[in-house]
This record gives sequence, C-alpha cells and structure tokens, in this order.
Amino acid sequence: MKSRLLYTDTLSAIRHATPADLPRLIELEQVCFESDRFTLKQYRQLIGRRRAEVVVYESAGKVVGSATILLNRRVGGARLYNLNVHPDFQRRGIGKALLRWTVEHAASARCDWVSLEVKVNNPVALSLYKKFGFETIQRLCRFYEDESDAFRMVLSLGDSKESRKRAKCIFENIPAGTIFPI
Ligand SMILES: CC(C)(COP(=O)(O)OP(=O)(O)OC[C@H]1O[C@@H](n2cnc3c(N)ncnc32)[C@H](O)[C@@H]1OP(=O)(O)O)[C@@H](O)C(=O)NCCC(=O)NCCS
Repeated sequence: MKSRLLYTDTLSAIRHATPADLPRLIELEQVCFESDRFTLKQYRQLIGRRRAEVVVYESAGKVVGSATILLNRRVGGARLYNLNVHPDFQRRGIGKALLRWTVEHAASARCDWVSLEVKVNNPVALSLYKKFGFETIQRLCRFYEDESDAFRMVLSLGDSKESRKRAKCIFENIPAGTIFPI
C-alpha cells in the first residue's frame, strides 16, 4: 500500500494521487499542454500501477501541480513521465518541489538515474532541469504529436564519473527514436 502523504508544511503538501484527483489531473493537462496530454484512461491506469507514482502538489487544499514517474528496478532507472504546474501557480517553486521529490524518491528506490524528455522549445522546463543537473544526451526527432523534437535528458544519481558514464551509456546503446521501455 502506497503511503499517501509524502511532504507537508502548513499550507501545502505533496501526496499520492487518488482516483478522486482524476478530473483535476485532466484539467491540469488541458491548461498546461497543447498536445500529448495524458487521458483519463492513462491516468487511471498509472494511479493503479505499482511501478508508477503519480503525485500531486496541494496548496491550501487545491491540487495545483502534478508529477508522474515510472520506476524500472530491472534497469535501475526512473523516468519522469510528466510534470506540470497550473499557470496561476507557476514561478512559486512548485515545479522545483515536485522535481526534488521525484529525484529523492528515485534515489530512495535505489535508481541510478532519472531520465526525461522535454520539448526542445520549452526554455522554462529546460532551465529547471538544468538547474537540477540533468544533461542532454539525445535529440529525438518528431517525438511529439505536433512533430516537434524532444531532448532526452538524464540525471545520474551516483557521485562518481563512472556512474554518470554508465547512465549515459544505457541510452547511447539504444536507437535514438526508441521510447525507453520505462
Ligand atoms: C515547467 C514548470 C513545471 C515549472 O514549474 P514552476 O512551478 O513554475 O517552476 P518553479 O517556480 O519551481 O521554477 C523553477 C525554475 O524553472 C525556471 N522557470 C520557471 N518559470 C520560468 C519563466 N517564466 N521563465 C524562465 N524560467 C522559468 C527557472 O529556472 C526556475 O528557477 P528559478 O526560480 O531559480 O529561476 C511549469 O512552467 C509548467 O507546468 N509548464 C507547462 C508544462 C510543462 O512544460 N511541463 C514540463 C514538461 S517536460
């Protein structure tokens, strides 16, 4: 059973999403993304999946952001599958808080790295990921529904040069167009 409350202070909390959050998760998709939105069915499946974590950021009782990560213990990695913050609540550190939780959770699940894809023309998200130390390792052509390209970025969770190299190698050995199996 997943613990529900993951972080809290007086006004905000990060907790696991429940089926009751589905309408709000869909609303967030609609206001945060122009294409490649998660559907209700996808979110329902993700919330029920053991190796997926859908978490929401609640501010004064209202869900204002979410993050979805997939863990693959077999390959020792995590994939940040989605991250969003409602436009009315952006620029307040919520994206950072969700990303920090993601990275810490991946580390506590003994992952060696976290990967993600981001639109090449999304400077806000790119700036956030770079601040956390994510490195661009591939450009994925026409990755998104609107045919725009993605950067694949990886954050190695190990300290050593060797572990950083290992994290990158995993992706170098698969064709650039392949959606990584996690
Ligand atoms: C990307 C996103 C999650 C950031 O959330 P946020 O809560 O606004 O981010 P934070 O306030 O924690 O800011 C984190 C960093 O992001 C960058 N950033 C945020 N807003 C920015 C802006 N308007 N312009 C430039 N950089 C910005 C900065 O590097 C910032 O760090 P700083 O505060 O030290 O300058 C949010 O903008 C969003 O949901 N965008 C739409 C969906 C999306 O693109 N998701 C990412 C998919 S890969």
